[in-house]
Amino acid sequence: MELLDGQLVSNIIKEGLKLQVGQLTVEGKKVPHLAAVLVGNNGASETYVGAKVKTCSEIGFRSTLLRLDADTSENRLLNIIDDLNNDVDIDGILVQLPLPKHISDEKVINAILPSKDVDGFHPINVGKMVQGLPAFISATPHGILLLLEHYKINTKGKHAVVVGRSNIVGRPMSVLLSSNTPTGNCTVTLCHSHTPNLSELCRQADIIVAALGKPEFVTADMVKEGAVIIDVGITRVPDSSKKSGFALKGDVKFDEVAPRCSYITPVPRGVGPMTIAALMKNTFMACEERSGGSLI
Ligand code: GUN
Repeated sequence: MELLDGQLVSNIIKEGLKLQVGQLTVEGKKVPHLAAVLVGNNGASETYVGAKVKTCSEIGFRSTLLRLDADTSENRLLNIIDDLNNDVDIDGILVQLPLPKHISDEKVINAILPSKDVDGFHPINVGKMVQGLPAFISATPHGILLLLEHYKINTKGKHAVVVGRSNIVGRPMSVLLSSNTPTGNCTVTLCHSHTPNLSELCRQADIIVAALGKPEFVTADMVKEGAVIIDVGITRVPDSSKKSGFALKGDVKFDEVAPRCSYITPVPRGVGPMTIAALMKNTFMACEERSGGSLI
């Protein structure tokens, strides 16, 4: 069994971006500028947005963090997005999800200019991704592909089982793994809460992507010997032995599953850092595009 070290691979990608930003600076060109919007004070969201902003500064990107109260109105948020869309200095916009209940995710996502939608959530980017056209790809699935690519994991002709059908991870992941690309060409089964024979399907998988948000859901009896396991879950579980009061748990029961598989992502230091690396790559691409490139 080999660990898919997301921390290591993300560091390599970030180093590459840092060099590219250095080159932009030498040439007197604009450096990427990401705007992150955080509404309310969800602890996990604070951590994720904090990590994204910190990474920007580590690799030489500019960032602007807009923190809004939990009771911010939908209209005010839409106006803020409009301002960011029109701000020529901003290359990428991300609005951290989940949003408070009174704000429609859909309206907010639709309001972001597709060319600044570095999360790849806008229907224009999702549609392009489905058609295999150049697009911003949702950061977590994009990061997983980068991880598979780094470890030269052969996906062609494999059976991938994706557990979870969220718009952010499961659904785009199923599309990407089935696409006619070097990290695709899988036969994909997309499982969800109404899938009757989920364990049996998982047992047939060469690759499992667990993205359902249920701690330790995938157990050893659900995994074929030699399978590749990608664990997207990162749930905070109360743990009084930790200073923070919680432990982070993946969707896979790591200790019992790891000995059965060929490759597995740990939690933390697996998919999480790759999501950030992919977001940074998307932001770099957005900046390039706005400076006259032609990738998107
Ligand atoms: N919430 C969970 N994952 C993500 C993500 O990748 N981007 C945003 N904006 N919110 C999230």
